[in-house]
Amino acid sequence: MIPFSAAPTKENKGRSLWLLLVRAKLGLPVVVLSCSIFFLVGFFGATLLSQDASEEALPRERLTEVNGEVESEWPAMPYGDTGDPRPILIPFQVLSWKPRALYFPQFATAEQCQTVVKIAKSRLAPSTLALRKGETEQTTKGIRTSSGTFLSAADDPSGALGQIEEKIARATMIPRENGEAFNVLRYEIGQRYASHYDAFNPAEYGPQKSQRVASFLLYLSDVEEGGETMFPFENGANMDIGYDYEKCIGLRVKPRKGDGLLFYSLFLNGTIDPMSLHGSCPVIKGEKWVATKWLRDKSRDMM
Ligand SMILES: *[C@@H]1O[C@H](CO)[C@@H](O)[C@H](O)[C@H]1NC(C)=O
Repeated sequence: MIPFSAAPTKENKGRSLWLLLVRAKLGLPVVVLSCSIFFLVGFFGATLLSQDASEEALPRERLTEVNGEVESEWPAMPYGDTGDPRPILIPFQVLSWKPRALYFPQFATAEQCQTVVKIAKSRLAPSTLALRKGETEQTTKGIRTSSGTFLSAADDPSGALGQIEEKIARATMIPRENGEAFNVLRYEIGQRYASHYDAFNPAEYGPQKSQRVASFLLYLSDVEEGGETMFPFENGANMDIGYDYEKCIGLRVKPRKGDGLLFYSLFLNGTIDPMSLHGSCPVIKGEKWVATKWLRDKSRDMM
């Protein structure tokens, strides 16, 4: 028998079938008939397949925006008590795998950003540092020169901070309860944050009740010049040059109002990723506003 399961569109399979027919010294009518069947199966098969593909194509163009979240009209799946009734879109770009860093364009609306800045403005104080053994406020002067304040969702009667917090939880799949309060920061011209780790190395800071797993930065303003978030050790670069923690080098992310930046401080095995070192380049022109949310491995009520 002729092996007719060969895929009709594959040219090489067609050729071997032809050879089989010739070798079998079959008469011309059989060959012609086989070829015709071959053609018809191929033609209709291809037509059917392409129809299937176009019917199954997801309706990407049909998107609606609800409360600043993009809802798609993709069919919803059955969902659990704590799930969402339908798919939502949170676009992101992988900026780096070393460290794991994601960029979320238009994560928050301009209105949400303005609301947060307005609340924070009235409460600003010079930013402080978690001190390592032997460090004092005097010895660490100049490392972090921004002003800031801590805000929780309850500090914002408009609900904007709560909405942002919820979206961060969705985007990271780290529950809201694992987040610290927002640290809202303002960097004026010349102000910066020298490169540092967000995770606490117990060898330097002593034993920790919980650890920072990841950081989500929401840029609340554009910056005319400077103010980038930098990752000097991205992909292992600059780790052997005696980096002075102040220079603005490596992967640099320019703040854009409403956009988010997520990066992980820990490897999946729980140890600190040395490449998660990061800092804020000095603002050269304009002003930088950013809301940082540190995400921990334990929930707030366990800390
Ligand atoms: C943890 O994971 C990192 C990255 O895969 C690896 O380099 C490191 O050796 C691991 N550490 C331990 C203690 O397993």
